[in-house]
Parts: sequence; structure tokens; C-alpha cells
Amino acid sequence: MASNEEIPHEEGLDHSIALLHEGYLFIKNRADQFKTDLFETRVLGKKVVCMTGPEAAKTFYDSERFQRKWAAPYRIQQSLFGVGAIQGMDGQAHYQRKQQFLSLMDKRSQERLAEMVTNELEHSLSPWEKKKQVRIFKEVKNILCRVACQWASVPVKEEDIHELADDFISMVYAFGRVGPEHWQGRTARNRTEAWMENIIEDVRSGNIEPDESSALYVMAVLKDEKGQFLSAKKAAIELINVLRPIVAISTYITFAAVALHEHPKIKEQLKEHNSRNLERFVNEVRRYYPFGPFLGARVKKDFSWNNYTFKRGTLVLLDIYGMHHDERFWKNPNQFDPNNFKNRDRNDYSYIPQGGGDPGKGHRCPGEGITVEVMKAVVNFLVNNMEYDVPAQDFNYSLDEMPTLPKSGFLITNVKRL
Ligand code: HEM
Repeated sequence: MASNEEIPHEEGLDHSIALLHEGYLFIKNRADQFKTDLFETRVLGKKVVCMTGPEAAKTFYDSERFQRKWAAPYRIQQSLFGVGAIQGMDGQAHYQRKQQFLSLMDKRSQERLAEMVTNELEHSLSPWEKKKQVRIFKEVKNILCRVACQWASVPVKEEDIHELADDFISMVYAFGRVGPEHWQGRTARNRTEAWMENIIEDVRSGNIEPDESSALYVMAVLKDEKGQFLSAKKAAIELINVLRPIVAISTYITFAAVALHEHPKIKEQLKEHNSRNLERFVNEVRRYYPFGPFLGARVKKDFSWNNYTFKRGTLVLLDIYGMHHDERFWKNPNQFDPNNFKNRDRNDYSYIPQGGGDPGKGHRCPGEGITVEVMKAVVNFLVNNMEYDVPAQDFNYSLDEMPTLPKSGFLITNVKRL
């Protein structure tokens, strides 16, 4: 067995405060300082192993070595994921649940959703032309919420869309927050779970008859591994696991708008309607800008890797943001350049904005195709269907807030249809 003295241990009783302060750079700062891809630290009073790099990522996705049960702190389950959701499942039960998610997100469904988003943007253009200024984050989050509910056959009144969109965003932004912002996320989750639970009950009692291929129907009839229907609450949690992240794509879209503004030459190239260029652009947005900082899992049974013995039950954090900005894996990582994706393999473990490995077998995000298609649709619309001015504003985003967003939410003025 390897000696655990061989990897650096960060001195000190606890580094939870540093994690909140250093945010996205917590793992990279220490990996750089210790000149290692693997080190021990302490977070929330417990030993935590942090790792970075594609080899570490490949190991992290070995389901013989890592499990997700008990990995996410309860406060994150109560805000971001929902208690008992797919994110904390393992083995056959996880596999079965994951197939249900993936069945909703094939290429046709991705394209249908992206088309619906383009139609909504079309409808929004005239009101935007009349407005003094338009805040992209705010407008896009509402559009995505409206479209996600329609796409999933979830009945929501127009007057409730804004509140629901804000609740989904609060759940996502509660992740790395303490105090009132965290509690706002938990309140938002309780409210939305109760709302979606009623809708699930309505499907089960026949009051609502959604299309059988819709997310609402599939979640309403979800069964566990013993063949029993999930409780309405658990079904609601999984339905939220489809709707919430679609609304969260508004964060990437806001960053994409900043990138278009800061790189006019790249924007010009996107006028050529070249789908490959569009895809490279959105992939670079997902690399360059911060969203998921790291992933967590627990060691399933003792094993050795890289001269280190991982002890059963240890919490392990896998770096995302730091690896996306590591010069060993990216040429000029701190420069925005879609050419990074010219010859890059889709399954490259140094690029894991939505997780790595096979989404059907492990925990990689099932919504990656949806994310890419929706981003492509909106970026294409911003470039080819409208013109706008970008007034002076604060685009800065802070790397010590997780998740983060350009401060202004990206303001535009003088919108004109092209
Ligand atoms: C906004 C862009 C998105 C980002 C940054 C993102 C990121 C992620 C990440 C990092 C994971 C965890 C991977 C892991 O644990 O190994 C994940 C899992 C997941 N994502 Fe996404 N995601 C996004 C969009 C979506 C969309 C659009 C959907 C659904 C429509 C979705 C549904 C899920 C689900 C259900 C899981 C849990 C999968 C599992 O545990 O097996 N996500 N996502």
C-alpha cells in the first residue's frame, strides 16, 4: 500500500472559510502551491482529498471506487439537488433512473427545445425594441423557464413564470452561499417542490393528461428499483431536476453575451452560419467561464492510486474550474479562444464542465446536449437576428462567489431586429 505521507497535507484545523473565499480557485491555488494533483485538506471539520487533472477525473468516474451516496452535504441537497434525488444514487438504482432522464433528452428533443427558444426570442424582439434597456440574464431566464415548462408539459400560468424562474435560480445560487441567500434557495425549493408535487398528483389522478413522452408524464410514473411508484414529492424533485437546470443555462448565455462583446472578430465569424464554429464557441464559453467549481464523491472501498491510499468513506473533490485553466491541458488557458475545440475529443477528461465519462453509466450530466443546443440557438439569435448597443457597465464576475455572474447581468440598448 502506498504511504499517505507522500501527498501534501494542508496544515490547519479547517479550511471551509478559505473554500468560500477562494471559491473556484480553492483547489488550483493549493495544487499550484504544493506542485501536485492530489492533496489533503480539511473542510467542514473533516479530512477531504482534492484532485485535479484528466487522470484524476478518469479515476473519479470509476464507479467501483467512488459512490455518490453521502457525498453532497445535506444543505446542498436541501437547496440545489433535492433530498433523495438522482445525484446521490448509485448502482442499478441510479442506472435505471438515469435511463429515464436520458430518454427525455435525445437529439430530437434537444432540437425541439432549441427551436422553441428561438421562437420565444422572436416574440420577445418587438417588446425589446421598445425598451430603453434589456438585461439579458433576466430576460433569458424567464424565456427559458416558460419554454422548459411548455417543453416538459408542465402547466404554469404566465403570471407565475417570473417567480418560478427566480425560484429555480435561487436554488442554483444557494450552492456556495451562506446566510440569507442560502436560505432563499431553500425556501424556493420548498415552495417549488410543493407546487410540482400537486401537479404530479394531478397527473396521477387524471386531472392533467400530458403527452406520454413529456418530462411531466415520465416523472409522474417513475418507479423505484422495486417497481413501486415514487412518492409524489420524490417525483416532483426529479421533475425539478429537469426544469431548474434548463433555466440555469441563462448563466452561460450571459457569459456568452459578454464573450461576443469582448471578441468582435469571433462574433463576425459567427455570422457565417457555420454550425461547427457555433459549437466551438459555446464549448469555449463552458470552458473559460466559471459555473460548476468541483464535484464530490466518497471512496467506496480502500484503493491505491498515484501512490496514495484512498480510505473508504473519505470525501474527494474533483476540480473543474482549475483544470479548465491549467496550461498543461490548454494552450493559453486564460485567453478566450474557440480554436481550443478544433481537434478536441468529446470524451476528453480535461474538459468536464458537466462531468465526464459516459452519461448513461455514470453521473455525467444528461442535459449537456440540451445545454449546447440551447446556447447555440441563443448565440445565433444574438449574432444573426438582432443588433444592439452595449452601454458602459460592470461585466466583472467574482471567482469567490459560487456560482457567479457578470455583475450587470449584461445590459443592452437600442435593440433592432435584423
Ligand atoms: C446550465 C448548464 C449545466 C451545467 C453547468 C450542468 C452541470 C452538471 C454537472 C457538473 C453535473 C454533475 C456531474 C457529476 O456529478 O458527475 C450535472 C448533473 C446533472 N445534470 Fe446538469 N448541467 C447543466 C444543464 C443541465 C440540463 C439542461 C439538465 C436537464 C435538462 C441537467 C440535468 C442534470 C441531472 C439530472 C444531473 C444528475 C445526473 C446524475 O447524477 O446521474 N443539467 N450537471
